[in-house]
Amino acid sequence: MIYQNRYLYKMVLVTGGTGLVGSHLLLHLIENGENVRAIYRDINKIQKTKSVFELYKKADLFERINWVEADILDVPSLEIAFIDIEYVYHCAALISFDPKDENALRKTNIEGTANMVNFSIAKEIKKFCFVSSIAALGDLAPHETYITEETDWNPEKPHSDYAISKYGAEMEVWRGVQEGLDIIIINPGVILGPIPKTKNCDQGSAELYVKVANGLPFYTLGNTGFIAISDVVKISYELIKSDIKNERFTLIADNIVFRDILNTIADVLKVKRPSIHANSLFMNFLWIADALFSTLFFQKRRLTKATAKASYSKNLYSNEKIKTALGTVFLDVHQYIKEVSKL
Ligand SMILES: NC(=O)c1ccc[n+]([C@@H]2O[C@H](COP(=O)([O-])OP(=O)(O)OC[C@H]3O[C@@H](n4cnc5c(N)ncnc54)[C@H](OP(=O)(O)O)[C@@H]3O)[C@@H](O)[C@H]2O)c1
Repeated sequence: MIYQNRYLYKMVLVTGGTGLVGSHLLLHLIENGENVRAIYRDINKIQKTKSVFELYKKADLFERINWVEADILDVPSLEIAFIDIEYVYHCAALISFDPKDENALRKTNIEGTANMVNFSIAKEIKKFCFVSSIAALGDLAPHETYITEETDWNPEKPHSDYAISKYGAEMEVWRGVQEGLDIIIINPGVILGPIPKTKNCDQGSAELYVKVANGLPFYTLGNTGFIAISDVVKISYELIKSDIKNERFTLIADNIVFRDILNTIADVLKVKRPSIHANSLFMNFLWIADALFSTLFFQKRRLTKATAKASYSKNLYSNEKIKTALGTVFLDVHQYIKEVSKL
C-alpha cells in the first residue's frame, strides 16, 4: 500500500501509537499539520487510539494517520515503516514490574530501541526523540538532594528490571549519537492521562485512577515526579523542532506525595479517600505476600520489591533544565486531574 501511495512530503514516524503517549502524540502532531505514520502490531489496538481522538472530539483527524503493521523487534517490518520518514518519536516499550518479564523487558526495550536507532542512522533521520523515563536517571549520592539529568547511575544500587531496560535503551540511543544521529531523550515522571471509563484497566498510570475508583484503602507518604500527558507531547514536539540536540531532559511538573495525588483523584471521582497509612514495613509485607500469592495461583505480580520500595521512597527530581531550555511552564497536575475528569 505504501509503495503504491508514496507520500509527497516526508513523514513523522511514531512507535507506540496505540499506547498512552503515542496516541496523544499522534493527535498533537496532526493538529500541528504534520504527516504522521504509526506502527501497530494488532489491528484491534488501533481502536484505542481512535477512542483517544474521540475523547477530545477530534475523531475526524484519526483518518490522517498512516498505519503500518510493524514490530520494533521485527527488522523487515521496520524497513517498510521507515519509508519516507524524516523524524522519529520512539515511544513503544514494555512497561512491567513483574520479575517474570525481565527478559521480555530487555528484548523489547533495549533490542527494540537498538533496531530503531540502527534504522534511523541508515535512513539519515533528521532527529530521533526517545521517550525514556525518570526510572533511567541516576542515583543520589549522600550529599545530593535533587536527581538531575547529570546524576550518575550507580549499578551497585538496586534498580527494577524496567529501569535497567530503559537505561540500556538510552545507551543504545547514545551509541546512535556516536554514529552521527541527532537525538533528544525525554525522561518523564509518572504520566497522567485521561481517566479511563472502565473499572478494570491495569495499564500504566491509568491503573492509579482505577485503583482509587475501586476503593483503594491504602496511601503511602513516598513521592515521585508527575506530569500531564499534554505537557509530555507538547514538550517533545518543541524539542524535536528546536535546534537542541543530543541532550536528555527530565519532564516532571512537580514532585508530589502519593497520598496527595490519590486524594485528588478520590475527590474528583467522588469516592472515599484512601485512609490507611501503609508504611515501609507494611509495603514490604505486601510485596512478599503478593509474590507468594502469584506463585501459588499463577497470577501476574501486582506488587514487587521494586514497586513497594518506590511507594515509600522520597525521590526529588529537578525540572530546571527543560525550564531553562524552553521556558516551559508546566500544568498543575492536581488541576489537570480535575480538568480531565470533565472529558
Ligand atoms: N506511562 C507512564 O507513566 C510513563 C512514564 C515515564 C515514561 N514512560 C515511557 O513512555 C513510553 C510510552 O509509554 P505508554 O504509557 O504510552 O505505554 P503503553 O500505553 O503501555 O503503550 C506501549 C506501546 O508500546 C507498543 N509496543 C510494545 N512492544 C512493542 C513492540 N515490540 N513493537 C511495537 N510496539 C510495541 C504497544 O503496542 P501494542 O498496543 O501492540 O501493545 C503500545 O503502543 C514508554 O517508553 C514508557 O517507558 C511512560
